[in-house]
Amino acid sequence: MIGDRLRKYESLFKLTPEHMRRLVKAFTEALDLGLAKPKQVVPMEPTFVFGWPSRQEQGDFLTLDLGGTNLRVCLVTLQGEGKFEITQSKYQLKEEQKQEDGQKLFDFCAECLKKFVDAHLTDENGGLRLKPGENLPFGFTFSYPCSQERIDHGELIRWTKGFQNPHTEGQDVAAMFRKSLERFNLPIELTALVNDTTGTLIASHYANPKSKIAVVLGTGCNAAYMEHVKNIPKIKHLGIDDNTQMASNCEWGAFDSFEHEHLPRTKYDVIVDETSSKPGEQAFEKLISGLYLGEILRLILCELIDEDVLFLGQDTSQLEIPYALDTALLSLMENDQTDALLTVIGIFAHFFALETAIEERQFFRALAHLIVVRAARLGACGIAAIVSRMDYLEEGCLVGVEGSLYNKYPGFVETVHEGLQDIFGEQGRRVLIPLNIITHHAEDGSGLGSAIIAAMTRIRLDAGL
Ligand code: BG6
Ligand code: GLC
Repeated sequence: MIGDRLRKYESLFKLTPEHMRRLVKAFTEALDLGLAKPKQVVPMEPTFVFGWPSRQEQGDFLTLDLGGTNLRVCLVTLQGEGKFEITQSKYQLKEEQKQEDGQKLFDFCAECLKKFVDAHLTDENGGLRLKPGENLPFGFTFSYPCSQERIDHGELIRWTKGFQNPHTEGQDVAAMFRKSLERFNLPIELTALVNDTTGTLIASHYANPKSKIAVVLGTGCNAAYMEHVKNIPKIKHLGIDDNTQMASNCEWGAFDSFEHEHLPRTKYDVIVDETSSKPGEQAFEKLISGLYLGEILRLILCELIDEDVLFLGQDTSQLEIPYALDTALLSLMENDQTDALLTVIGIFAHFFALETAIEERQFFRALAHLIVVRAARLGACGIAAIVSRMDYLEEGCLVGVEGSLYNKYPGFVETVHEGLQDIFGEQGRRVLIPLNIITHHAEDGSGLGSAIIAAMTRIRLDAGL
């Protein structure tokens, strides 16, 4: 009986509260190290975003978001008093565009910006709704690890999430983007280069000042928070006033990369890693983010096919294609409330031309659950590490979260909260009082956040800072 095999996977994917607390400790040490010295595994990148917004920022700002499921362009009008309006368009990025030359990728982004400007910023006579000579301030949300010296500069450390565009790693992506803007002769000035987590951090604090940490749980996985400059020893030489604060982009997806000392990797995780475009890297992200969870399930199913346990006598070739099982399908499977699991029947029939028995469908759904619960609990470990580092447990804080896994996967939010309870509960027991650390969906996080950061940058520049 296939259902009997579940126990094996339960123990493989289980994460006990005790294990979680050990991970939080190792995670906190990795955060400290990243703040102390440059080029650490968890790099804790300084973002040059100083402090929180005043909520009085005003003006029109353009943003472009590269790195999630969609390429998104927004026109954000900040109206002061914490009010704003957003007009946005989404553009699809094809798989092959993630492999072509980096400058071509940025040219495509600039082309999308041009389409957006033509559609939303021209008057009825086709002229631009800008004063002559005026350039729109632009926040480029570039959701990959960058090492920044200023807010409008950033060297790409390495591509993540399957992007491999040549001639980009080690380059200043802001300078490359400016070149593309020039090609399209756009009246836009790249004011700020922003990670999606930093954008989400600023946007969620703008919406609710209790929000002090931001996390992205989507195609990739990462977090940002506001750190005291005096606690970032590696930037001492810059002479920044010790009493200021600066957002720190953790790039925590890299936690436990290369050495793999801490994370509970199964043999399926090892295969995901070794067959990825960047073996050894982004170890934490590979156990958590939407790009990889479907693949982990697919690898288990393929192993059972090889062992002649599943789909006997059927053609399984469609399921044997790497990355054929998207994480969105796991979400649909878990959402299926019918006794016969009709959605699961549909998924296997439609995408893989496979027939399934009810017991198999229950088993697949249970496996998806185990993989995703582990992901959510690991995410809770990362959040707990930042909470511990900043000592937020007692006073409490909100955690703004963006990304399709968090927003769309059934039960994900609750599982993250249970994980936090397991970590901070006393002596391994879940605390039954409401926890002070609460996550919430930071809607439009990085688009809005990038615009606010561009506005904050303008204000600093005007003040001669
Ligand atoms: C979007 C943000 O809403 O969420 C992006 O605008 C972010 O910046 C993305 O990268 C993450 O979610 P996903 O699921 O699209 O990767
Ligand atoms: C990857 C990127 C990181 C980004 C995250 C979420 O981990 O390296 O910069 O924030 O994905 O999109």
